Amino acid sequence: MTEQRHSPGRLSRRQTLRVLGAGVLLPWVASSCSLLRSSTPDARLLASTAPLPKPFQVPLPIPDVLKPTSTSPTTDYYDLPVRVAEQEILPGLRTRIWGYAGQFPGPTLEARRGRRIVVRQRNELPVPVVTHLHGGRTPPESDGYPTDLLLPARGDFPSGMPDPRAKVVRGQRTYEFPLDQRAATLWYHDHRMDFTGPQVWRGLAGFFVVRDDEDDALPLPKGAKDVPLMICDRAFAADGSLSYPALDASLRSRPGVREAYAGGVLGDVILVNGAPWPEFEVARTRYRFRVLNASNARRYELALDPAPSESSAFVQVGTDGGLLERPATRETLTLAPAERLDVVVDFAAYPVGTTIVLRNRAGKDSAAQVMRFRVVRNERDDSAVPNRLSRIERLDPARAKVTRDLRFESGEVHGHTGWTINGKAFDPTRMDARPKLGSTEIWRLTSDIAHPVHLHLVHFQVLSIDGRKVRDLAWKDTHDLQAAQTVEVIARFDGYRGRYAFHCHNLEHEDMAMMGNFEVV
Ligand code: C2O
Ligand code: CU
Ligand code: CU
Repeated sequence: MTEQRHSPGRLSRRQTLRVLGAGVLLPWVASSCSLLRSSTPDARLLASTAPLPKPFQVPLPIPDVLKPTSTSPTTDYYDLPVRVAEQEILPGLRTRIWGYAGQFPGPTLEARRGRRIVVRQRNELPVPVVTHLHGGRTPPESDGYPTDLLLPARGDFPSGMPDPRAKVVRGQRTYEFPLDQRAATLWYHDHRMDFTGPQVWRGLAGFFVVRDDEDDALPLPKGAKDVPLMICDRAFAADGSLSYPALDASLRSRPGVREAYAGGVLGDVILVNGAPWPEFEVARTRYRFRVLNASNARRYELALDPAPSESSAFVQVGTDGGLLERPATRETLTLAPAERLDVVVDFAAYPVGTTIVLRNRAGKDSAAQVMRFRVVRNERDDSAVPNRLSRIERLDPARAKVTRDLRFESGEVHGHTGWTINGKAFDPTRMDARPKLGSTEIWRLTSDIAHPVHLHLVHFQVLSIDGRKVRDLAWKDTHDLQAAQTVEVIARFDGYRGRYAFHCHNLEHEDMAMMGNFEVV
């Protein structure tokens, strides 16, 4: 499809909506007339036509930590433009990416609890962007609501929006993050309505680590042994470019993917911090890994091969919302899109010279492995995993005055396969829930197939799964609802009044309308 640059006045309303900004309201939303039940599509593999490189040939990159442009006693100020850049991802090929600061993954932002961060962003891409801090307790103006577009600085991308509440800005804007929240591994990524999947796929994602005194005081591995691992899958064309089954490769106006990919797009190249199946050299000590699944639709079940003979492979210390109360031993780690796990691995279990593959038991063929560790030296280890990590307040279901039912399921909209919540496609002008500020609510989530459900603003606790009580206490912002399941989560809606999104974090489901709104009142 060619780019549409006509003046809106010469187009019908339907065409106008198509060329405007988010491009959004069609075809998924404009009419709710016929939501027909259709067969439910699964995520599907998009095979690379580029030759796949041999695994474990490149070193694990660690994203740069972004330096503030200035600081004040209360605030760190950052510049984080988004732009097109070229990167060598597959050895010998150039890949054009869209990156924060021209990098994929974007640079890591390091934050401290209670210390404000202000990010100035200039959009040098040819399309609108919206930046969201995933897991952030952020005022609504800075939360990256999907229609709060930052339009390209160059060109004349149309600014009209069919959402009267949208705050659309051209060229440059700032986001303010108070970060009144516990230490946790957050991440930031694009959230442009209807185009989040392809824009994250092109590279718009990075780590955002919040630290605090409580976490710092623990003897967990630190510094170079506190390592972020962003895992995501991609597909590459023979010339090195990223492949994605978008209906409109320019991502200017027409949203959506080819019908066969409506269930989600899987790639056959597994990247860690942007490198294909990298290798990481380690000492025989403990490491803390902050593992993020930044894939559009792929789930992972990670295991060490060989597993240590006398201890557990992983000691989990945290989740999406920061530290657990006590460490938990795990042989495998399951991660749905957007979930994070904070784990310690002790390589003292292996002699120098050992190579250990991080396998993905949920993947086939090239997706069955992720990266490799190579134990290269002995080193003194002063770190430890204490028995007590933190305290977590257990939210009391008896205090919840409101229980809401939310059904996540496929639905057909205008002959397209899409995704709905309670039978409805995303509409920025519809409010699905109005929790009172400070109130506690139970949200009962049900599914057709699996959906990683994510709430903005709040972290929640899982109360029950198919009626079975969940005892483990953890703060989550994304929970992977399994097929045909009912899960109750409890949250306290405090922080800020205003409009926020909740949605499935399979990005193709999200783009194809599996999103709703709540307004904290
Ligand atoms: Cu990570 Cu609304 O998103
Ligand atoms: Cu989020
Ligand atoms: Cu989904």
